[in-house]
Amino acid sequence: MSNRSLNNARERFNGLLAQSIERHAKDSPLKEAISYVLLAPESKRLRPLVIYAAGKSFNISRELLDAAACALEMIHCYSLVHDDLPAMDDDDLRRGRLSCHKKFGEATAILVGDALQSMAFVELSQQHLNPIIQNKMINVLSQASGPLGLAGGQALDLASCKNKTSQEQVSKIHQGKTASLFIAALCMAACTKNCDDYMTEIGVHMGLAFQLQDDILENIKTSEHLGKPNDSDKRNNKPSHVALVGMSAAKDLLDSYYDETARLIRSNFYYPEYMLQMLDMIDKRNIIT
Ligand code: IPE
Ligand code: IPE
Ligand code: MG
Ligand code: MG
Repeated sequence: MSNRSLNNARERFNGLLAQSIERHAKDSPLKEAISYVLLAPESKRLRPLVIYAAGKSFNISRELLDAAACALEMIHCYSLVHDDLPAMDDDDLRRGRLSCHKKFGEATAILVGDALQSMAFVELSQQHLNPIIQNKMINVLSQASGPLGLAGGQALDLASCKNKTSQEQVSKIHQGKTASLFIAALCMAACTKNCDDYMTEIGVHMGLAFQLQDDILENIKTSEHLGKPNDSDKRNNKPSHVALVGMSAAKDLLDSYYDETARLIRSNFYYPEYMLQMLDMIDKRNIIT
């Protein structure tokens, strides 16, 4: 897929999110803040693009995956709003502008997160999908965002600021808070197949690579470039591979995650090129832009 078709896919997807806001939040007092978060221009839409790329390799139409893509991005956006709150990372900048609580206040930001989480499941449950597929998607996404997924990972992330943390524990945190949504993207895209084990393994590696790169970028780029603070981990005393083993070894580890993810994609997808392109896009993010 060329850069132009990726941008077209993003634009089409942004249109779906805007329609979803009209359907589910039109008369809500939270509509303005929900739109601010969900339609933020600098959002990369990586997770929805992964859903569509994996779906393409499985020959699944993008229309069948639209609800899953919207729901997943809603969960992701909710997690960012709550992640930036003073009780969590206390960050004022997100996607190049004020984070939700700085713009609308803390109470509204908490409610926006709550509302986005509900909207995700309204979106998934109301679409006219085959009930077996629909049930699988709801199950995958609710598990990925729950106590053993994203929410659990965020809890471990916060607890780790106070305790001595090993590299293995850092990876466990990244698996929960970040890889969970990549696993959900792949397992929802594989909704008509029976290959969740393979998809989970790819999602874990892709998520670990994504989060390690995010941590590395935080150490080497300006806040302006990142569109979010570049001192958040240090300020909050967050353990990271970079802090534990140094930048050079962290970069080697990142290379090994990317190599392993690419190997898994090549050996598990009949048409691996779409997913390899996503991996390349994740690898190059924030470096070329
Ligand atoms: C940021 O994710 C949160 C992490 C898991 C590190 P993205 O970098 O995908 O955020 P947006 O949606 O493009 O802003
Ligand atoms: C983000 O982790 C993970 C979730 C929001 C679930 P971070 O706190 O490391 O990500 P950024 O740097 O704020 O985007
Ligand atoms: Mg965080
Ligand atoms: Mg954060």
